[in-house]
Amino acid sequence: MNAIHIALLGMGTVGTGVVKILASNAHNIEQKVGAPVIVKKILVKNPDKVRNVKTEAELVTNFDEILNDPEIMIVAEVMGGETPSKDYMLAALKAGKHVVTANKDVVAKYGRELFAAAEAHHTDLLFEASVGGGIPIIRPLKQCLAANQITEIMGIVNGTTNYMLTKMTKEKMDYADVLAEAQAKGYAESDPTADVGGFDAARKLAILASIGFGARVTLEDVHVEGITNIAIEDIEYARELGFIIKLLAIAKQDERGINVRVHPAFLPMSHPLAAVSDVFNAIFVKGDAVGETMFYGRGAGEMPTASAVTADIIDVARDIRHKVSSRILCTCFEQKPVYPVSK
Ligand code: NAP
Ligand code: HSE
Repeated sequence: MNAIHIALLGMGTVGTGVVKILASNAHNIEQKVGAPVIVKKILVKNPDKVRNVKTEAELVTNFDEILNDPEIMIVAEVMGGETPSKDYMLAALKAGKHVVTANKDVVAKYGRELFAAAEAHHTDLLFEASVGGGIPIIRPLKQCLAANQITEIMGIVNGTTNYMLTKMTKEKMDYADVLAEAQAKGYAESDPTADVGGFDAARKLAILASIGFGARVTLEDVHVEGITNIAIEDIEYARELGFIIKLLAIAKQDERGINVRVHPAFLPMSHPLAAVSDVFNAIFVKGDAVGETMFYGRGAGEMPTASAVTADIIDVARDIRHKVSSRILCTCFEQKPVYPVSK
């Protein structure tokens, strides 16, 4: 079959990883899809920047060159931020192109509008990398656990802060130094306030709670407290008492409604999440039929995140190849009451 041409919006940490995987696993991917998947164009801000990956793709600075290219059927948005990412994704969907994204900011805030556009234009909209980096969590929650009434989603969903807390705990590293290290490793958001302030985790929790509970949960519903006030002394006191400090994201659903919160917590060393260190994330999901399940893996970074983005691209490419109609992971959200943390 003819090649399936795609475009990337962005070639930073994640985009570079996607280019690498599509090149190094090209044969495997072609077998899985039934056609080669070729990156034709990549949107960047600065085409003269030195890149640490070689690509045959054309680097462009004008999104219209991608939007108006009829050969490009899949757009993978890995540039981040709300603007212009959301507008580009919407325009791509309206033009009948399938969209894959790693952007939790846009999915958490504008998901409903984007899903509606995807549905109206019979296009796929997949976003596995938006939560948990390389961990499969969006599809398992929406599809594999679909038979369940989900009552609780709880875990560590931000790699940067878990990396920082781990280094502060184990190596007594200074907060600013370890944040700089997380940024250098490509874990942090371009504005790391989103990580350390707990907002990145809160957006991810809003996405998970929306899918898990079939509800419309937004960032505004989430009680958010980050790790900016955590000092080495707090970590030391916790250790003396037999605890470790972790930034937790917790969503519960009961007869009162939904409760969603992100905050640092003292965990006993025997708790399974106490052993989740470095950039790893772990997410527990409790369902009435399945009981407790746990998802674990690298929550950020070039290759783990690119693994999830590329898997979405492969899924969409398969759909195109087999002429399967649109696959949208979320459409109907009920408005459910959200009750505050103190109750
Ligand atoms: P990044 O390293 O900052 O890369 C951003 C890329 O987008 C760069 O190539 C940049 O171009 C391009 N770009 C940004 N604004 C642009 C604009 N207005 N027009 C054209 N190009 C633009 O970001 P990243 O870490 O790869 O993250 C990308 C997305 O993935 C974000 O939504 C992030 O939240 C999400 N994500 C990241 C990770 C991670 O571990 N990093 C994990 C999961 C999800 P230049 O290269 O020319 O500057
Ligand atoms: N900044 C995010 C994190 C990237 O550290 O978890 C992965 O979503």
